[in-house]
Formats: sequence, C-alpha cells, structure tokens
Amino acid sequence: MVAAQMLAETSTAGIVLLVLGAIFVVAAGAALYLRSRQKEQPLDIPRGMRPGPSDAALETPLLQKLQGWGVVLVAFFVIFIPYNWLREPTENLRQEEELLTLSFDRGELSVQAFSEENQLGVGCVRCHGPELRGGVIQSGASLAYPPNLTNICAGPFGTPPHNAIFSQDDIFQVLEEGRNAMPSWSIRYQGALNDQQINDLVVYLVEMSSENVPFEDNVCLNQEASDRALAESDLNPRDP
Ligand code: HEC
Repeated sequence: MVAAQMLAETSTAGIVLLVLGAIFVVAAGAALYLRSRQKEQPLDIPRGMRPGPSDAALETPLLQKLQGWGVVLVAFFVIFIPYNWLREPTENLRQEEELLTLSFDRGELSVQAFSEENQLGVGCVRCHGPELRGGVIQSGASLAYPPNLTNICAGPFGTPPHNAIFSQDDIFQVLEEGRNAMPSWSIRYQGALNDQQINDLVVYLVEMSSENVPFEDNVCLNQEASDRALAESDLNPRDP
C-alpha cells in the first residue's frame, strides 16, 4: 500500500494502482498454473533436466516469437517515452499552479483570526479590518491607521495611495520587518512566521488585490508600473 501510494499522486490513485497490481499478480499466477498443467510431461523427469527446445523449434517459431515480443516492446517505448516527454512541461505547470492555489488558500486563512478551526490564523484582520479594508488602532498615546490591503498592488497609484509600496518586494519587506505600528512578522526579525508563511501571505495579498487594480497600475505584477511609480515618487528609496 505504501509503495503504491508513493507511486501515486493521491490515495485514490494509490488504491487503483494497488487493485490493478493485485489483478495482475492473480492473472499471472493463474496463467502460469494453467500452463504448467497443460504441458504435463508424460515422463517423470525433473523440470530442470528436461530436454530444451529442438534446433528446428529454436530457429523458427521460437525465434519469431521472441522477435515479435521485441517489436512489441520497442513499439511500447517508442510511444511511451515521447508521450511522457511531451507531457512533462504541461504536467510541471499544472503542479506549479496547484502549489500556488494551495499557497493562496493558506494565505487567505492566515489573515483571519486564529481559532480552533483556523489554526493557520495570524489575525491581520484585527488591525486591517474584517475585510482588510483598513482600520484604526491605538498605538501608544496616539492612533495609527492600518491601511486598506485590498488594493495594495496599486502602490502609489491607489486610492488611498500606498506611498511606500513600489513592488512585491516592498510587501515582503514591510511584512517581514514591520514598520511603525505594523509589527514585524518574520522569524528573522523576532516575529513568529517562517518564510513559507510570509510567502503564502504575499501570494494571497498580491492575487487578491490584483483583482481590484488595473494591470497598467499594478506595481506587483507589472515592471513598467513599478518603474513609473518609483520615478514619480518623492519617497523613492532607491534614489542615491
Ligand atoms: C497591530 C496591528 C497590525 C497587525 C496585527 C497587522 N498590521 Fe499590517 N499594518 C499596521 C499598521 C499600523 C500599518 C501602517 C504602517 C505605517 O504606518 O507605515 C500596517 C501596514 C501594513 C502593510 C503596508 C501597507 C502600505 O500601504 O504600505 C502591509 C502590506 C500590511 N500591513 C500587511 C499586514 C499583514 C499581512 C498582516 C497579518 C500578518 C498585518 N499587516 C497585521 C498594523 C497591523
């Protein structure tokens, strides 16, 4: 079962492999048994000492039979190997997309509050609002305004603008290191989240907010928009 599951992608595929394997073993056993009964030798000679096929049999029917199997095997590999080889890129892409979907789903759960059902919850909604549309919090003696994250990829082009977000890297940075009343989340900056969790959050924020941001203004996905945002900004951190 374990071996079948290691070969298979899912446990359903594992069970199918296992059943097919069992059918093959039973069928092969039955075929061998029937063959040995059919060719019951009249003489009581031990199996290993019985005479082999005659020269005539070796040169014609047996030879042709073996050559036939050779042709079948070659035909099999001629189809099987290119088929697998051609399918490889599509298959890799499909797996990549599946991983991204899983990452997005984890990110979506992470922004919500922690609970018994949502063990992935980190609770960004506590400050950024239940729909991440922004909020107000007490920060020391004054108030702080955790911004709307649903248009984060609009960067400085958003309404209201995100004047310090010029690319996806800036989202990583503010999440990992924190800024003013925004806590640092990465384990590298005394936070509690590992790189995978930060990654999931960024995947979620980028994909979610990109639905609300036109591509020409999307500083996360569009290099040209990112360059324009930097060029137009007074806060340009990349200026010497
Ligand atoms: C304690 C409240 C608090 C929590 C919890 C919190 N944030 Fe923030 N966040 C803030 C504040 C306040 C700011 C604005 C920082 C500033 O003044 O520069 C901010 C800024 C941000 C920014 C930058 C936005 C911009 O326009 O530059 C991002 C991205 C962000 N938070 C994502 C998150 C994510 C994801 C989580 C959950 C892991 C989270 N935040 C949890 C308070 C919080």
